[in-house]
Amino acid sequence: MATQVGSNNKRKILVTSALPYANGSIHLGHLVEYIQTDIWVRFQKMQGNECYYVCADDAHGTPIMLRAQAEGISPEQLIHDTSIEHQADFKDFSVKFDNYYSTHSNENRFFAETIYNRLNDAGHISKRVISQAYDPEKEMFLPDRFIKGECPKCGAADQYGDNCEACGATYSPTELKNAVSAVSGAKPIEKDSEHYFFKLPDFESMLKQWTASGHLQDEVSNKLQEWFESGLQEWDISRDAPYFGFEIPNSRGKFFYVWLDAPIGYIASFKNLCDKQGIDFDAFWESDSQTELYHFIGKDIIYFHGLFWPAILHGAGFRTPTAIFSHGFLTVDGQKMSKSRGTFIKARTYLDELNPEYLRYYYAAKLGSGVTDLDLNLEDFRLRVNSDLVGKVVNIASRCAGFIKKKFNSTLSDNLSEAELFNQFVQAADPISEHYEKREFSKAVREIMALADLANQYIDEKKPWQMIKEEGREQEVHDVCSMGLNLFRVLILYLSPVLPVMAEKSCDFLNMKNVSWDDIKTPLTGHKINKFKPLMMRVEEDKVQAVIEASKEELKLIEDKESSTSKEPSTSPLQTDPISEMINFDDFAKIDLRIAKIIKAEHVEKADKLLQLTLDLGGETRNVFAGIKSAYKPEDLEGKLTVMVANLAPRKMRFGVSEGMVLAAGPGGEDLWILNPDDGAQPGMKVK
Ligand code: 2FM
Ligand code: ZN
Repeated sequence: MATQVGSNNKRKILVTSALPYANGSIHLGHLVEYIQTDIWVRFQKMQGNECYYVCADDAHGTPIMLRAQAEGISPEQLIHDTSIEHQADFKDFSVKFDNYYSTHSNENRFFAETIYNRLNDAGHISKRVISQAYDPEKEMFLPDRFIKGECPKCGAADQYGDNCEACGATYSPTELKNAVSAVSGAKPIEKDSEHYFFKLPDFESMLKQWTASGHLQDEVSNKLQEWFESGLQEWDISRDAPYFGFEIPNSRGKFFYVWLDAPIGYIASFKNLCDKQGIDFDAFWESDSQTELYHFIGKDIIYFHGLFWPAILHGAGFRTPTAIFSHGFLTVDGQKMSKSRGTFIKARTYLDELNPEYLRYYYAAKLGSGVTDLDLNLEDFRLRVNSDLVGKVVNIASRCAGFIKKKFNSTLSDNLSEAELFNQFVQAADPISEHYEKREFSKAVREIMALADLANQYIDEKKPWQMIKEEGREQEVHDVCSMGLNLFRVLILYLSPVLPVMAEKSCDFLNMKNVSWDDIKTPLTGHKINKFKPLMMRVEEDKVQAVIEASKEELKLIEDKESSTSKEPSTSPLQTDPISEMINFDDFAKIDLRIAKIIKAEHVEKADKLLQLTLDLGGETRNVFAGIKSAYKPEDLEGKLTVMVANLAPRKMRFGVSEGMVLAAGPGGEDLWILNPDDGAQPGMKVK
């Protein structure tokens, strides 16, 4: 991987983060990546490198089209509103793009068409007819995530697309039993249509070489080798109308699949920036470019960035990335973000209660260069920020500022009394910058905090608050406090990629403008400073709790907005796949629970888990298949009472139609209980 630490030549660097979909809010999971990238970019800029950070909303595709329809607005309106929301969130987290754009732009259309035409002219596009599920009512082809039905393996109802959330089976959507369109409820039919494919296998040797040449992290490179072993497949890049996207040149009713034009959005956003600022676009994108290009992404979209993207760029005569930097997912308190636990936290919900720099610091303190997941442990988050930032870093300034103001006319000493200690701080610049460069932010933070400990130790030993009471020691107090503030200044410069707001406030306090890496070496002497204002407050436990509670509240307001169909199909989402785990009260109230008497229980041939029950609902009999064979012999059940869901739509199973569901309690296996007869309960009674 090309790194030129210490080089005098200023590097030209273009950096991107993955483009967030334009139909959902930014949440703390997304922010791992944007904060990681922003820290790296700020560091590069502090080094004096010519570095640009561009991004955009990923605005095309079926989910965006359908969401706009559901909201009764145009997709253009939806993506416009979302872009405003996203940009406000990024700004408030100090994620500072040089340009934030949209894939639904003229520049992106131009580059998508140019790239497609070049690939087509070079013979890298093939066309063939494929058969796919089609919704005859809505008159559209259905991506996997928009088809639901019963799992072909376990029979669980309401399973989407190609995997079962109940038993974990994977299958093709055509295997779903009693499949219906999640859009209209109609029964899908199979329909033929011509699709366009990018011939990825044409690039096999180029990709084998590229993926093994230091452009990827080792673990990612190894993973890609496995994909080569299973063989590269042609990639379907077209979608039929209706589709929100760009029509393919000379192909009426055929659109580019969103994942084709999404990464091209990196180029388009940069082009838009170049046009505004007069930057030489070609120098960054021509095939033999000497500039650096880095994409920060989540580990779930490696396939697109590690294979399709370099192949497409190469095939269309553009440069390939210098490196792809993948990161892991966010967990909160050790678990996947969860709406019901209130740990699916939107950027805005966090911002309403907490200082964004707490999170920037915490992420930095835990981020490395690998793809392991990052855990936001809320207790650790509070303790760590309070201890490190408030207790160590800010403490240095607040202990020294008062004396300088009151006793020394707000002016630092002319004398740097502990040159050696100061030097030790300056010497750390190289290892710290190396850590930043290699995205080993946790190592950088560790070094910086070790220095903060040293600075506090120094002040503790000197005890200026005692010295000031002693006759003739004023100069010493002046020197110690000036020294303390100079050490604080170095720490703040080191931390400024992570904490830009605190760095800015500190610059105001220290009355300095420059925050370049080179300034670190030069201490402030005989220098007038400004009034000290609190730089950061402690993280309050009740505020963290308020974020959790507010996130739980939001759940009640979300109707079906973020159902499993809100993400673009055939790629996993950027962070977590939020599966709504809660139902609201109205949903619950719809469930008709009744006492039922088991009048007959029988084995079901070839079924390992099921018993067939005949239930008396107080006059009405129902046939129900129940997975309780492990716990009960049929003869033991007859005559017993149980609770059943009486208004569950009949479900056709392999063995017959099930007309409801019985409830049982227990961990499973043999320990599964249904009700015993009880004098008070009568078949047909409503359960309250
Ligand atoms: O996974 C996602 O959220 C996509 N919107 C990322 C696109 S990144 C790039 F390719 F544009
Ligand atoms: Zn299943």
